[in-house]
Amino acid sequence: MLEHDTIYILAIESSCDDTSAAVLMNDKVLSNVVATQAIHEEYGGVVPELASRAHQQNIVPVVHQAIAKANIDKKQLSAIAFTRGPGLMGSLLVGTSFAKSLALGLQIPLIEVNHMKAHILAHFIEDETMIPPSFPFLALTISGGHTQIVQVNDFFDMKIIGQTLDDAVGEAFDKSAKILGLPYPGGPLIDKYAATGDPHKFEFTIPNVKDLDFSFSGLKTNILYFIQRQTKENPDFIKNNLADICASIQYTIITILMRKLKKAVKLTGIKEIAIGGGVSANSGIRNALIEAQTKYQWKTYIPKFEYCTDNAAMIGIVGYQKYKNEKFSQQDVTAKARYVIS
Ligand code: KG4
Ligand code: ZN
Repeated sequence: MLEHDTIYILAIESSCDDTSAAVLMNDKVLSNVVATQAIHEEYGGVVPELASRAHQQNIVPVVHQAIAKANIDKKQLSAIAFTRGPGLMGSLLVGTSFAKSLALGLQIPLIEVNHMKAHILAHFIEDETMIPPSFPFLALTISGGHTQIVQVNDFFDMKIIGQTLDDAVGEAFDKSAKILGLPYPGGPLIDKYAATGDPHKFEFTIPNVKDLDFSFSGLKTNILYFIQRQTKENPDFIKNNLADICASIQYTIITILMRKLKKAVKLTGIKEIAIGGGVSANSGIRNALIEAQTKYQWKTYIPKFEYCTDNAAMIGIVGYQKYKNEKFSQQDVTAKARYVIS
């Protein structure tokens, strides 16, 4: 372990459609700047080529802003951490190239970070509103690109024990929203409309998937056919029932997630549960996890909203842990679109 006084990490995240930079002083976040790309809204999903171009435009101002907000000089930086993958290749290349060049220019170490590990380890950011889980714990990472249950034994020892076989849970939210005519990303809108709806008004099929794996593509088709059938009879069906449809969709998705979590707890005997990824902003899943504390005697951990969606602070906390353990990367490191947790 490296002896140190104060470590300053500049972290860069550019795996999908958010350009983000953060500065951490040890495990504390001094700044966490996120530039969200609005350009994708009109296309109903992320357009990789446009995402890459927007990262090119955003990265310099976002990094400048993060350093300025942190009120440090870039000469004080101890290392640069960046997202190596998984994600969109064109997007990852921007952050990776930028991090490599800056580390070379400043003559400081470079640290590659796995985006999915970062969603999990975001819980270890020092923040008065968050308590970190104890090892070993189970992490449910739910985002627009991933759905995984990971057994986390230590900072650098984790194993995927369940994952989606097709769509990610965020995609299930977004695609359902699209069927309802809602704009992208539809997840937060389904959450909003669900608040005043009846979750038991409409019933959707819960898929039967082996072990701890998930599948969401059947649900999407189930919803599509249901809506097509109903709107044929009543063209105003969606408008007249939006809250109930959203509440029923959300209830189905949460039931799928909670059933698998219960199974994972049973199989591993681990009752420390932490969530991460953009979908952990969902109020339904948050409530279900809070309820599980008394219902199943689990200890559940939900990160602060800004550390749930894609952000560089979570890349920085992994960077800090890797720095302490001297896990550095070399200048020949390349972006990795498919980067599996191991
Ligand atoms: O982690 P994230 O910011 O980006 C990825 O790595 O994918 O997750 C984005 C996903 C989108 O699918 C979005 O619709 C979903 O998170 N999301 C939500 C909510 N907020 C964001 N889904 C349901 N309810 C929410 N409140
Ligand atoms: Zn993510």
